[in-house]
Amino acid sequence: MSKPFSHSQHTAVVSLGRPPRVDGAAVNPPIAMTSTFVGSDYVTPENRVYARFSNASWEPLEKAVAALEGSEVPALAYASGLAAVSAVFDLVPGGGTIVIPTASYNGTVGLARALAAESKIQLREVDPIDTEATIAAMDGADLLWIESPSNPLLEVADLPTLIKAARQRGLLVAVDNTFSTPLRQQPLRIGADVVVHSATKFISGHSDVILGIAVTKDPELRQKLHARRSLRGGIPGPFEAWLALRGLRTMALRLDRSEASAQALAERCEANPEISRVRYPGLPTDPHHERAKEQLSGFGAIVSIEVEGGEERADRFVEALRLFVSATSLGGVESLAERRRRHPSEPDRVPTNLIRLSIGIEDVDDLWQDITQALESSRT
Ligand SMILES: Cc1ncc(COP(=O)(O)O)c(C=O)c1O
Repeated sequence: MSKPFSHSQHTAVVSLGRPPRVDGAAVNPPIAMTSTFVGSDYVTPENRVYARFSNASWEPLEKAVAALEGSEVPALAYASGLAAVSAVFDLVPGGGTIVIPTASYNGTVGLARALAAESKIQLREVDPIDTEATIAAMDGADLLWIESPSNPLLEVADLPTLIKAARQRGLLVAVDNTFSTPLRQQPLRIGADVVVHSATKFISGHSDVILGIAVTKDPELRQKLHARRSLRGGIPGPFEAWLALRGLRTMALRLDRSEASAQALAERCEANPEISRVRYPGLPTDPHHERAKEQLSGFGAIVSIEVEGGEERADRFVEALRLFVSATSLGGVESLAERRRRHPSEPDRVPTNLIRLSIGIEDVDDLWQDITQALESSRT
């Protein structure tokens, strides 16, 4: 037997989730287009009974993402990131309490508010940057939900302190790690119970698939999530899972490049007087920089800017972009820009003129040229 050795993440994203190396085998896992599996025993070794319970096409992705997050327990793939969020909320007993940030992905906050409005759960909305207030809100609660860095304010919560405090009080802790990816932050390693991804974003990386993932190190928790996924049915299609794994192969390269461009563009935006504020944890002037340096191994590929001239100017700016695509979402190879408050559901704490830039892998000078020409043509 060959000696086990550890891989760098650049190697891991390429080599995880491959089929066994036997002569004549395909290098990539197959796409299993089937709704059911042959077998008279109800529980087969892989639990492959019916393709709503388990599917050979999800497993390589589930194992690969789990390994990147530091778990030996396979992750669970879902039909979307929000289906994964919903699956975690579903762990809270009826009438139980979720502590959630006031400003994070609007779908997550919106779902939590809708559940609270239907009296299914109770909600305590907190500013997660205020560590003391967040801890104070934990008493008697069931689940702490953290998104860090957050969408779109790029706020960095004190994860180690919050996770420790939540565990001491018996709360389940879930971290949405979509922005950092497991390549920049691994919350399970510091005690989070479950990590959730919108794999639609950086993991898939090409804006061509919607998929979610939940990862835990705890086999019992995995079992609970698996049982509910089987019953509730929020499963991904085999092709979507295959696409996500194919995207994962280049995630390290893509993120390195996008992140380097994000840093350069954030610095250039900061020096431009027509941009009143730049939010990017990689800027030494950013209020979250020191914490980000401690917690993250990279600052990510999302930059939020506020242009002078209010929301009308912000809209004109986005319309004037020629290379950045005016579109929601993030984490793809192509750069996207969006004024987030165009969504009525966007939390009030997000400034009306804030534009979220998702930096892709284009040439950084071309992206900068696009920003400067859009600033110029949006002046009046
Ligand atoms: C941080 C974050 N979490 C979760 C989601 C939801 O993911 P999906 O769109 O894949 O359902 C999103 C989507 O934008 C997101 O940005």
